[in-house]
Amino acid sequence: MIVFDHLTKKYGQLRAVDDLSFEVQPGRVTGFLGPNGAGKTTTLRVATALIHADGGQVMFDGKTYHSLKKPMHQIGVALEPTIFHPGRTAADHLMMLAPYAGVGRKRVKDVLDFVGLTDVAGKRVGKYSLGMRGRLNLAAALLGDPHTLLLDEPVNGLDPEGIRWIRELLQALARQGRTVLTSSHLLSEVEQTVDEVVIIAHGKLVHQGTLNELESRQTRRATLVEVEDRDSLLRLALSQGWQVRDPENPRSRGVVVEGIDPAYVSRAVYQAGLSVLQLTPVVTSGLEEVFFSLTEGQGSVR
Ligand SMILES: Nc1ncnc2c1ncn2[C@@H]1O[C@H](COP(=O)(O)OP(=O)(O)O)[C@@H](O)[C@H]1O
Ligand SMILES: [Mg+2]
Repeated sequence: MIVFDHLTKKYGQLRAVDDLSFEVQPGRVTGFLGPNGAGKTTTLRVATALIHADGGQVMFDGKTYHSLKKPMHQIGVALEPTIFHPGRTAADHLMMLAPYAGVGRKRVKDVLDFVGLTDVAGKRVGKYSLGMRGRLNLAAALLGDPHTLLLDEPVNGLDPEGIRWIRELLQALARQGRTVLTSSHLLSEVEQTVDEVVIIAHGKLVHQGTLNELESRQTRRATLVEVEDRDSLLRLALSQGWQVRDPENPRSRGVVVEGIDPAYVSRAVYQAGLSVLQLTPVVTSGLEEVFFSLTEGQGSVR
């Protein structure tokens, strides 16, 4: 089990990680989510002792990363950004790490095979695609056969087949009883992979639980309105102080009014004398919407 215990990391005035506490259980895949700049990478860097915390600590089965005797054997880490020597081959890169993981050539061969890089193992990493680098990064994390995996945006740069591959891989590792924490800035990318989510924004925890629990959180109401004269509708929205957005369907000429009772929107639209083509309450309980409403306006810019 991993315990993040009141972790704080400051960069000058910025609290990149702000009194963050949560636990990650073995035997399941936990998604570590938040928009870009939320503090995911910083949290993982602090956890793996790459940078110092300003407060709090992270414990792996009761021990800090620093005090682990064979860290690569206990915790596999693949953080962003990945730095590879461009002139080295994938096999060279792993062979260089092998002594630290306490493994030999056979294990290097096996993990290369496991991540599907055997055919290109002799190619220079400088020529690798983003997806191939991701696979190599994962191979390095797996080298010491660790019980715990910390992966930072492992899906980045992978094609749909690669995404499916990593999903099955992470689930298989979790089923073996391992602890898997995998970050992403997109819920949709990990929705089918994770058993549980930890969502942060501005370095703070905003939600921890299963996806079902996330889905059942209350969300805002919205109304899709389409009228003949779209400009009049936008003027009405402005005068009413409504928050509006474009519909998901790019072909729709409607406008989505957020956060107002659809019955009220309907009355106002009729009273304004607009010719209504469509007026539909929008169900905003989709996972993506809950995620967005939890982390909305909470990007890197404060
Ligand atoms: N080395 C650094 N120096 C100053 N600010 C940083 C540094 N690393 C990250 N930050 C800032 O800390 C915040 C969290 O960043 P990060 O942990 O990379 O977020 P995420 O991985 O969720 O996108 C951001 O506002 C980022 O700009
Ligand atoms: Mg990051």
